Amino acid sequence: MESADSGAPVTRADITLTVNGDLLRIDVDTRSSLLDVLREGLGLTGAKKGCDHGQCGACTVLADGRRVNACLLLAVAADGLEVTTVEGLADGDVLSPVQEAFLGRDAYQCGYCTPGQLCSATAVLDEAARGWPSAVTADVADAPDLDDAEIRERMSGNLCRCGAYVNIVAAVREAASPEPVQEVVR
Ligand code: FES
Ligand code: FES
Repeated sequence: MESADSGAPVTRADITLTVNGDLLRIDVDTRSSLLDVLREGLGLTGAKKGCDHGQCGACTVLADGRRVNACLLLAVAADGLEVTTVEGLADGDVLSPVQEAFLGRDAYQCGYCTPGQLCSATAVLDEAARGWPSAVTADVADAPDLDDAEIRERMSGNLCRCGAYVNIVAAVREAASPEPVQEVVR
């Protein structure tokens, strides 16, 4: 891309992003990933840079409600989108159901992958609610039942180097269908 005036490469652009509910106008390097803009430009360091190659899912955020690897998405390509990072999942001090379930199920060890897991799991619940099938959905005509096989398939883009997968699957299962609160009979 060249400017009309000088012939010099144009390397910056103004974009508009809504990030965790805040409408922002941001001047970005056109070569910057959304992940770098979030982390280094906006100070939202929840999304992690694990591989920077779209392979680990640590950078997962929601863009217009759909999960994306922020390391693969140029910030200029996100112009106009509503972005939700892990910092935006809770409602003030009230954790989201997915966050509560990860906490309750001890679904993390070092926590490095956790922001991406949380964003991805949030989208998984939405995708299933919309009836979107996965590669392991037996009957695509039916609403998918988020059993362990579905959860493992749908969360397969999010790696956990600590191997907390058993508890992650349990947490997503719980968030998908929270067990009824047991009443204490006195
Ligand atoms: S840092 Fe984006 S997928 Fe690994
Ligand atoms: S909890 Fe350590 S990488 Fe997943």
